[in-house]
Amino acid sequence: MSNKRREFLKKTAVSAVGAHIIPAWSWSKQVAPSDQINVGLIGCRNRGWGVLRNQLKNEGVRCLGLCDVDQNILNERNVQVHQESNQKPKLYLDFRKMLEDKDIDAVIIGTPDHWHCLQTVYACQAGKDVYVEKPLANTIEECNIMVEAVRRYNRVVQVGQQQRSSAVWTEAMRFIKSGKLGTLRKVNIWANFNYGIGSPKQPDAAVPQGVDFDFWLGPAPLRSFNPARFHGSWRHFWDYGGGLMTDWGVHLIDMALWAKDVTHAPTTVMAYGENLSFEDYARETYDTMSVIYPMEDYVITWQHAAGLQNGPYNMLYGVEFVGDKATLVANREKWMVNPEDKSKSIDKEKSQPESKHKEVLNDTDLHMQNFLECIKSREEPNCTIENGRNVSLYAHMGNLAVRSGEGKLVW
Ligand SMILES: NC(=O)c1ccc[n+]([C@@H]2O[C@H](COP(=O)([O-])OP(=O)(O)OC[C@H]3O[C@@H](n4cnc5c(N)ncnc54)[C@H](O)[C@@H]3O)[C@@H](O)[C@H]2O)c1
Repeated sequence: MSNKRREFLKKTAVSAVGAHIIPAWSWSKQVAPSDQINVGLIGCRNRGWGVLRNQLKNEGVRCLGLCDVDQNILNERNVQVHQESNQKPKLYLDFRKMLEDKDIDAVIIGTPDHWHCLQTVYACQAGKDVYVEKPLANTIEECNIMVEAVRRYNRVVQVGQQQRSSAVWTEAMRFIKSGKLGTLRKVNIWANFNYGIGSPKQPDAAVPQGVDFDFWLGPAPLRSFNPARFHGSWRHFWDYGGGLMTDWGVHLIDMALWAKDVTHAPTTVMAYGENLSFEDYARETYDTMSVIYPMEDYVITWQHAAGLQNGPYNMLYGVEFVGDKATLVANREKWMVNPEDKSKSIDKEKSQPESKHKEVLNDTDLHMQNFLECIKSREEPNCTIENGRNVSLYAHMGNLAVRSGEGKLVW
């Protein structure tokens, strides 16, 4: 082993321990070809890249293809894949070409929301399994088309709502479903976040070199290039995303559905949404929103105030499950129970009011492992296409109730 490589391994081990992750790079072990999973990544800049890196930590995963419409990002990620895992994927500007590679078993879709539907459907048609990022799609109709395609082509599809694989949320759900909170009547959700206001306004500009902007727009309406509605900040414009309402809504509203195992579309949605602040920032999605979802025997509420980095319980985002006997408050790191009667113990777990998980595997690690296991077993993954569709409908309906001008929609 060369000194350079030894140095690299040492550095990787140190940074991985710092991030509570133990690396198990695929190239470090011999894996039988039958146990190998060959993957391709579509959309390499931010989340897609994180998800791929995560997959490559698992034994037997090989990256055969990288695809992006931005040549600069493609080149950068190619170098990184080589450096970090000693693999040499083929590079593609057109995902359809990548899907023609018969050796690729599964693809990760890490593109903006307006691309998820077409790419998932094409991938299913090509016989690939799919890890598709959330929200499932940018419209309700696209979500429904995706469910149909996954079932028709019989593919394993994991939706990137990693909280469905999380140890913290699984434990919180077990507690809620045990009945120890009493009757669960309300689930209050909030998500603030600085990034929800978009990026500073800028004039339209020339398309950056190396970017196929037509292919970035894809199914969205044609328009001139503007840096404030491109990489990362596209999520604040209706043609490509739904703002905080869908970006975080699908993660957190899903917890409210999971608590009562709700598997149906929303029936009634009441919503207020407005842009009230940060006028120098470019966005169409609302910086301020309150939404009410009346359910059969409980009510879900959603609140966001984009541009703020704090919220109730000193938490930037969170979910409050309000029961007759106690309220459980959770985020991705911890959950805690506040009993109504402070003198009465709810059960043993009350002696540990906070459950903290700092173990080796984070939510995305677990979600990815579950996906890889399901590719082999052909079982349903933790976040099915139906889970992804249902919660997307709740999130989109919040936005649609406001955009319709009615403030209320009945399904
Ligand atoms: N699960 C999570 O916690 C989580 C976190 C962040 C983002 N996401 C989701 O991941 C997705 C991507 O978000 P992001 O922040 O990485 O966006 P991003 O803008 O940073 O990256 C998107 C990438 O896709 C590429 N792309 C666009 N159109 C393409 C096409 N037709 N073919 C190939 N590549 C194309 C872009 O060039 C860019 O490199 C979104 O759906 C987002 O909601 C999920």
